Amino acid sequence: MSDNSFGHLFRVTTWGESHGPAIGCVVDGCPPRIALSEADIQPWLDQRRPGQSKFTTQRQEPDTVEILSGVFEGKTTGTPISLLIRNVDQRSRDYGDIAERYRPGHADVAYDLKYGIRDYRGGGRSSARETAMRVAAGAVARQVLGAGVRIRGALVQVGTHAVDRARWDWDAVGDNPFFCPDPQMVPVWEEYLGAVRKAGSSVGAVVEIMAEGVPPGLGAPIYGKLDSDLAMALMSINAVKGVEIGDGFAAAALTGEENADPMRMEDGRLVFDANHAGGVLGGISTGQPLVARFAVKPTSSILTPVPSVTRSRENVAVSTRGRHDPCVGIRAVPVGEAMMACVLADHLLRHRGQTGHDPRPA
Ligand SMILES: Cc1cc2nc3c(=O)[nH]c(=O)nc-3n(C[C@H](O)[C@H](O)[C@H](O)COP(=O)(O)O)c2cc1C
Repeated sequence: MSDNSFGHLFRVTTWGESHGPAIGCVVDGCPPRIALSEADIQPWLDQRRPGQSKFTTQRQEPDTVEILSGVFEGKTTGTPISLLIRNVDQRSRDYGDIAERYRPGHADVAYDLKYGIRDYRGGGRSSARETAMRVAAGAVARQVLGAGVRIRGALVQVGTHAVDRARWDWDAVGDNPFFCPDPQMVPVWEEYLGAVRKAGSSVGAVVEIMAEGVPPGLGAPIYGKLDSDLAMALMSINAVKGVEIGDGFAAAALTGEENADPMRMEDGRLVFDANHAGGVLGGISTGQPLVARFAVKPTSSILTPVPSVTRSRENVAVSTRGRHDPCVGIRAVPVGEAMMACVLADHLLRHRGQTGHDPRPA
């Protein structure tokens, strides 16, 4: 596989498996003289960390990040930044009984058909453990972008229960185990997911990511569109089955009048009166908030047996015993934020590289 990297000038490569000794990433292209220490990265990893509530997997991983290279006296040097997280809670034996069986909904069968070898320990490279390194790289990207660009994410739907957007409160997102922006939806999700978990089942979710303070001009025509890079980045997250920018699929049901984002001048500034486009026109940021959503499928590992086959092509039924996560969409929120940060940092550097100018306010 040579497809473990993304980004052009801010280039992230991740490596490792869920049951190896460690996972890691290399961030290449980060500009020099940017403040960076483990303390800038760890808080973001702590948000994604498993075992924090009964609604996420009970795997206990401290996910402590170590900076191995690229930083000297608290500043980036312009050389590759290598980040490492040691795997602590490996427990390969939990997976022994599925060594020969393909887990429905997982990458097991597809990897084996492609590579002809199978690391059955927790999904190997396809495990979402890899997303911890995306979050670590995202923290570096945030340092590159600076405090003027604010990237936040929220869970907006769990199963059939969507938040009421009229009650949206960003301050509430950190106060509940779901990253839920609607305080009244929290008890509903609690009861709903509690029942789903008890039944050994799972449900999907929708995550929304917003970046404010994105300067206009990021992204490039045709094959370097900001929205297409963002869609790729979000779609590459495990279990993501759909990505929307701005109004997304709902735009298909709007008229041109409803969908247009009117513009006007106010105090010498260009102002938009709506943001159906999600902050991007022609693949280039407009200065409006960049808004993306993605749909996460229900956790594949469930207690109910599902028909499957073995490596030796016998029919079996596969169910998951032990640790189980009723909605992986919850832990996907920090991952989505990180992918947005990496794409924006890459496009900021690309914009500077091509135009020679930094679009951020001085
Ligand atoms: C943060 C995160 C955690 C995940 N944890 C689990 C899990 O505990 N159990 C599971 O069945 N799938 C989990 N997944 C999803 C699987 O990794 C994913 O469905 C699988 O690798 C197949 O890939 P695909 O769904 O993208 O096709 C998780 C996804 C994310 C984003």
